[in-house]
Amino acid sequence: MENSPTPESSSGTPEPSTVSSPPMTRRQFLTYTGVGVGGLVVGGAVGAVLTRVFSSGQTQVLTTYPQVQVAHLSDLQPGKPIAFDYPLKGQSSYLIKLGKPAIDGVGPAGDVVAFSTICVHMGCPLAGHYQDAHKVLGPCPCHLSTYDLSLGGMPVTGAATENLPQIELSVDGSGNIFAKGVWGVIYGFENNLQPGTAVKS
Ligand code: FES
Repeated sequence: MENSPTPESSSGTPEPSTVSSPPMTRRQFLTYTGVGVGGLVVGGAVGAVLTRVFSSGQTQVLTTYPQVQVAHLSDLQPGKPIAFDYPLKGQSSYLIKLGKPAIDGVGPAGDVVAFSTICVHMGCPLAGHYQDAHKVLGPCPCHLSTYDLSLGGMPVTGAATENLPQIELSVDGSGNIFAKGVWGVIYGFENNLQPGTAVKS
């Protein structure tokens, strides 16, 4: 899908560059830095990678989350996931209109959400395992974790003990849906923003 010019946010969530007061919550901090708990432990190394760096292939390493159009409201059918990668290629995610209000849901009914489809337990793929009757993703084919997408990706069965990473979304006045951040740490990464190739923004 082609990307659009920078949209007007309708979510009310401040843009990263304007967040200075009040102090960030832990969730906001993780969103704007893309750094997980593991990353905080190695703060020195993370600080180094968050400086402006370019690979030999002239691909810019992400230092903040890009704003990327993933769909339009008219593209969505209730219970039918749309797959996309964010913020890096291979970081697979689902955009879903749940048909019921959800935590951090967007759109007129507050029922449009997006989540990583990489299980936080040990990284098995969750794509293809959405159950619309219960608004859950899972059970994971490896150890049966199931996540409630209306409740911020909270695990409800299986081995996982952490929420599934949720993609922060916004919708502009024309109905374009944008990914603009991630709450939580995608399995296999200390920093959601690298290593890897950024999706086109
Ligand atoms: S990898 Fe999904 S439950 Fe273990």
